[in-house]
Amino acid sequence: MSNSNVRPASMERITTPELAKAFIDEQVKALRAQIGSKKVLLALSGGVDSSVVAALLIKAVGQQLVAVHVNHGLLRKGEPEQVIRVFRDEFKANLVYVDAVDRFLDKLAGVADPEQKRKIIGAEFIRVFEEEARKQEGISFLAQGTIYPDILESGPVKSHHNVGGLPEDLDFELVEPVKLLFKDEVRVVGKELGLPDNMVYRQPFPGPGLGVRCTGAITRDRLNALREADAILREEFDKNGLAGKVWQYFTIVPDYKSTGIKDGRRCWDWPVIIRAVNTRDAMSATIEEIPYSILNHITERIITEVPGVNRVLYDLTPKPTGTIEWE
Ligand code: XMP
Repeated sequence: MSNSNVRPASMERITTPELAKAFIDEQVKALRAQIGSKKVLLALSGGVDSSVVAALLIKAVGQQLVAVHVNHGLLRKGEPEQVIRVFRDEFKANLVYVDAVDRFLDKLAGVADPEQKRKIIGAEFIRVFEEEARKQEGISFLAQGTIYPDILESGPVKSHHNVGGLPEDLDFELVEPVKLLFKDEVRVVGKELGLPDNMVYRQPFPGPGLGVRCTGAITRDRLNALREADAILREEFDKNGLAGKVWQYFTIVPDYKSTGIKDGRRCWDWPVIIRAVNTRDAMSATIEEIPYSILNHITERIITEVPGVNRVLYDLTPKPTGTIEWE
């Protein structure tokens, strides 16, 4: 495997199943040559990049891969279950599932500052992963889902998916089989590896997860409202053919309430804010025009199905001035 971080000009763009298959065959050979009979560790978030790396490694070295899925409590509805179903049940991977929900939420309790929240999530993630790494014997390699834009930008995005910052005694040799690929190529490879469509074509999801969409100090009941509202939005976007058309769409539940009326009584509940944006590079973004009838239906579902919510708002702000996420 090339250790260069530069994509050769001669490298063909992977756009077809045939090209994906050739890439997979070549990587499987290279991974076997690099890893031999040793063990490799991977933080498997369930996002497309780490999932493709996991599937490649399972094909190349099978049970020598130890995939660790950390549930930090800020994942979307159904995500940890899907990781277990796909990788443990279907791909027969050696998967370690870590339920760290209480650890993360306890650490985050009362913390309102967005940067502080991100730091806590990132640091705790490394700590949990490090603990799991120490429980494993004979690990020699650390696999990462680095992709080419990460190398080109090497910005803050993904700062906590990529498990940099491990202590020296856990300083494994890196395995980065998709580091020269662009996102669309990773998706073609993922499809060819047999990963489900909703994993392969999933919208970007920030490392700190729902944490940046449950603004201010996170509480479990507000986080639960956020997760349910997000699931309704995703379901309706899927059903109405918007999922493939809109780059990123999600809900936010801010840390303030407003008055409303439910069952003839005044209530004091949270609003849910819907954000749906299109962009090429996430540096600027425009607002998707969603048919009014769909917005209306989503609103109706959220205010009747999600506990603690009495209003739904649609964020019309482009980037700039609003960033895509609210924190
Ligand atoms: P903003 O909010 O800056 O987001 O307009 C641009 C893109 O980056 C994603 N994002 C993150 N991804 N860790 C991540 O892995 C983060 O801390 C983070 N913050 C924002 C955001 O979802 C959008 O796609």
